[in-house]
Amino acid sequence: MNSNFSLPNQKSKAILERYASSMSTSNAVSFPMVISHGEGCWLTDVDGNKYLDMMAGIAVNTTGYAHPAVVKAVQEQAAKVQHLCFAVFASEPQVALAERLKKHVGQDYRVFFGNSGTEGIEAAMKLARYHTKRPYFIAFTGSFHGRSMGALSLTASVSKYRKGFGNLVPGVFHAPYPQPYKYPRTAEMVLEHLEFLFKHTTPPEEVAGIFVEPIQGEGGYIVPPAGFMQDLRSICDKHGILLVADEVQTGVGRTGQFLASEFDNVQPDIVVLAKGLASGYPISAVMFKEHISTWGAGAHGTTFGGNPVSSAAALATLDILENGAMENARVQGEYLLGRMRALQARVPQLGDVRGRGLMIGLEFVKDPVSKLEHPELRDRVQQLGLEHGLILLGAGSHAIRLAPPLVLTTEDAKYAADTLEKIILEAASH
Ligand SMILES: Cc1ncc(COP(=O)(O)O)c(C=O)c1O
Repeated sequence: MNSNFSLPNQKSKAILERYASSMSTSNAVSFPMVISHGEGCWLTDVDGNKYLDMMAGIAVNTTGYAHPAVVKAVQEQAAKVQHLCFAVFASEPQVALAERLKKHVGQDYRVFFGNSGTEGIEAAMKLARYHTKRPYFIAFTGSFHGRSMGALSLTASVSKYRKGFGNLVPGVFHAPYPQPYKYPRTAEMVLEHLEFLFKHTTPPEEVAGIFVEPIQGEGGYIVPPAGFMQDLRSICDKHGILLVADEVQTGVGRTGQFLASEFDNVQPDIVVLAKGLASGYPISAVMFKEHISTWGAGAHGTTFGGNPVSSAAALATLDILENGAMENARVQGEYLLGRMRALQARVPQLGDVRGRGLMIGLEFVKDPVSKLEHPELRDRVQQLGLEHGLILLGAGSHAIRLAPPLVLTTEDAKYAADTLEKIILEAASH
């Protein structure tokens, strides 16, 4: 158990001790409490403590906990049929889900269902190679795309994730991701770096795909400058490269738009969705333009992908999104951004506040001039959060991500903002 935080909670401690002796040593549990159940945006631990969840199972629990419509959809589908293997049978909920996703992303896309973000990225890599017959990929430093050998070859957020697992899939090249706060490295300079790669190491006509998060998640909730995705689109068009948007964390309404790529009016060739799609039930959807669907039957597959219960949960989630939760993400996100920006003016160590919708990053620095990272302050804020009933998750080395359920109420958003204000002021004054 690697939690850096502590709380006086005996029942949780006992379970965590059992956890420590049975579970893989690779697991990195962040929090010192064991959750018993949840309702709305609130979680209760086995000791009876309540917390407002400002990270939603890492941007997964779109509709919060025990949403009656999701529970009903899951119960009804589980009572009908829980698995069919889509290599063998078509299932109606899965087809209905593909049709609903096309309504949001575009009628000229097809859908491949998997079980996780990583598996979606893996499928996107395979499709990009298969379709283009090209060997190389480009991704960005700071990115997180998953941990299987292919996805890990793209991931470049923390070298610890790669350490000990080489050699990874060959032919992946990385360019820096724009970081408007830390380095005023504009999108233009990143594009120059891509040209540099094309000139010195990676012939563009041999690049199958550029994989990009429209907002970097694990890397620190970093929002690139406006137009960055457009620029990538132009480069891809120029060289026949597929633009692959990893919207595993940004997608399905989290930013207030269905896809974060929409902020730049960009249509990727391939979009990968997962996390928030089914309110916690495992599923991923790889959506790709009709004309690149050149792989034949059996070229790719998976046993559990598009499981009927997960598909039913996803359909219920989309109903809730369409009936106001996506708009709510925009409204509550603007409120939280406003409150955090007002706080930033009072706390010099709160160096940057950025985000879209309910995907907000708070970056902590030693001072606003040096912008030196301040992970200790970030950790202090997280610990105080727990003591005040707020679950806050880190992103990158020294930022906090706010990624609550998209059904966050006005009252809950106010509680979160008031508590953040109080604990950040307290942590920064020490
Ligand atoms: C942007 C992004 N891509 C891919 C993944 C991998 O998804 P999963 O953990 O579901 O395999 C993640 C997970 O955090 C992610 O944030």
